[in-house]
Amino acid sequence: MPGKAWTTCVDILWGRSMAKIEREFLQGRADSDDHQYTTPPFLPRKPIPDLGLERIDGERFYSLDFMHREWTHLWRRVWNVGVHVGDLPGPGSFRTHDLGKESLLFVRGEDDVIRAFFNVCQHRGNQLCRVEEGDARMFKCPYHGWEWNTDGSLRRVMDPQFFKQFDDGVPEGEFDLVEVRTAQWGGWVWFNIDGEAPELVDFLGEAGRHLEPYQLERYQLVDYKTFEWAGNWKHAHDAFNESYHFEALHPEFLNLTEGHDIPIELLGLHSRMLNFNHTVSEVVEDQAAANPLRHKMLEMAGFSPKEYQGDLKDAHLKLLAQKRASEDDIYLPYRQVNDEQLVQQ
Ligand code: FES
Repeated sequence: MPGKAWTTCVDILWGRSMAKIEREFLQGRADSDDHQYTTPPFLPRKPIPDLGLERIDGERFYSLDFMHREWTHLWRRVWNVGVHVGDLPGPGSFRTHDLGKESLLFVRGEDDVIRAFFNVCQHRGNQLCRVEEGDARMFKCPYHGWEWNTDGSLRRVMDPQFFKQFDDGVPEGEFDLVEVRTAQWGGWVWFNIDGEAPELVDFLGEAGRHLEPYQLERYQLVDYKTFEWAGNWKHAHDAFNESYHFEALHPEFLNLTEGHDIPIELLGLHSRMLNFNHTVSEVVEDQAAANPLRHKMLEMAGFSPKEYQGDLKDAHLKLLAQKRASEDDIYLPYRQVNDEQLVQQ
């Protein structure tokens, strides 16, 4: 019953008043100094635009035709995250990256410029690079041995005398690798397949401005994991874009986070869900009892459960005060982020 589930979800989002924790946040801000953060406050939450109450057709999760339309109208047109800049440390460093049916080749050239190319030999369409990462002075197609430089220019045609068309020389530029539009933001190389997307910073819009204070470009990639499952990609997005399931699926979370009625906002093309951590949800009957989960919550906030004084649900406010007190002495960008962001870190 997707329509019924959707209606219930909307009722919950629209029908409830502001969560207690949000009111307390706003009150706390009114009582504090006039600290100016790079990121404007997230609260009070923005009004939800009228998105209608029509059923969402389940076809979008299983239809091959819908998947093809997504490829044409979504994935080719938007900016996608490709590789981390740190994965291409020096001239010749390369990585391949797949999106749907496309294989892309990201490489730092001898001129230190990072470029992306369709990973396709320009002779007869063979896949050019078949390893995931490495360092190379050039790329050689395993089929007939044509070679390309790391800036995508054609380096060598194997036995050009076999080609009558090349009697006057190989035409310059005609067989270079086909470049894909890229831009860098937050330490990542992003790519846009059809080349028609707005500038990346405009595409990210308000969501990007809210992320800028984190200075993601200063981060080092330590590890990453890939998970594959037999389902539509939107299932994962849907699962992480609501906390409606907390109460039924893992109610223990409500000992650690508000998690019950949380702001979800549309920011242009993007959306954001704001969880308030380090607190006890107002829907939990017993707000005060200590239990192993709440001890864990305090430890995660950096407090000793034995020494903690005060309401457990106020741990986020104490954490906030503690971080604000240290913002001039810490290398993390506490000073730049707003209160709501600070208690998420
Ligand atoms: S297909 Fe690559 S060299 Fe012929």
